[in-house]
Amino acid sequence: MSLLDRAVSLTIPLVPKPLVRHFSRRYIAGIRLEDAFLVVRELQREGAMTTLDILGEFISTREEAETNTRLYQELVRRISAEELRETNVSVKLTSLGLLLDTSLCLANMREMLKTVDAENNFARIDMEDSSCTTATLEIYESLRAEFPGRVGVALQSYLRRTPDDIDRLTESPSNFRLCKGIYVEPRAIAYRDRDIVRRNFVLSLERSFERGAYVGIATHDELLVWEALRLIRGHGLSPEQYEFQMLLGVDEQLRRILIDAGHRLRVYVPYGEHWYSYSTRRLRENPQIAGYAFKAMFAKS
Ligand code: FDA
Repeated sequence: MSLLDRAVSLTIPLVPKPLVRHFSRRYIAGIRLEDAFLVVRELQREGAMTTLDILGEFISTREEAETNTRLYQELVRRISAEELRETNVSVKLTSLGLLLDTSLCLANMREMLKTVDAENNFARIDMEDSSCTTATLEIYESLRAEFPGRVGVALQSYLRRTPDDIDRLTESPSNFRLCKGIYVEPRAIAYRDRDIVRRNFVLSLERSFERGAYVGIATHDELLVWEALRLIRGHGLSPEQYEFQMLLGVDEQLRRILIDAGHRLRVYVPYGEHWYSYSTRRLRENPQIAGYAFKAMFAKS
């Protein structure tokens, strides 16, 4: 962690709310569903696909988990009603009750997938910290058997276990988002060296392609984009066999380059009333991101 990152993360609680709102505006579509749909339409005009994430608070009751499930079902229905093409949803299982009761979470996710299936859409399960990995993958495995082609999961290349997870999961048709991973994890569980995380990303992507998985290649790291392009060419993949994924507000130039070159690219669009706690928590969780946000305040847009 650089000194700048550390300094920025320590001062976050002192930053006035309007200022946090100002620099998070670039990364968060807004508070209301309508705000998010405006951003989606704008991205569609650019030729990008999208995935919508409803920003959630930490939840502590079953009722909150059920409310979040209903909010996602409503979102999936509204996507159809508004005829938003190539727009799916991303969900964190803790918001559906993973840490309260895994069987409750499984039931909530199943309800949500019934709606996803009825609306002919797709849900991606985000990956959270390592206390959630095993339970998240188990829920993914059981629901993909019930809803083939309707659900995917995210995998993190900083985790030592990821290549083994890929080997096991790809015994059945698989749909992954591959990213580096954003949480602060113990060394026994996750690589800390930047170069090893990158090499594990390339290894994981290669294994996934070899074993026929569909991968959302989620990175803004141009070296990894280059490695992905090398593997795509080497495996002779056509554009519908993979996609790139990027976060809203991050490296729009690279986004343009990939779309113009004929690749499919999906932008992750978070929105919701919990934008403030989400922004500050994410900044505190990963001071490197705070460094990016801080730099972004001074960057030309
Ligand atoms: P790296 O961190 O090296 O960034 C490369 C460059 O991109 C940086 O130099 C910087 O310029 C820019 N950049 C990256 N992130 C930025 C940011 N937030 N703001 C401004 N600039 C930024 N993680 C996780 O644990 N579980 C998950 O489910 C997901 N889901 C997810 C979806 C999508 C679509 C993306 C793109 C990423 C995630 N992540 C995630 C986050 C991911 O794990 C990772 O932390 C970030 O993508 C940063 O890693 P990069 O590979 O982009 O490289």
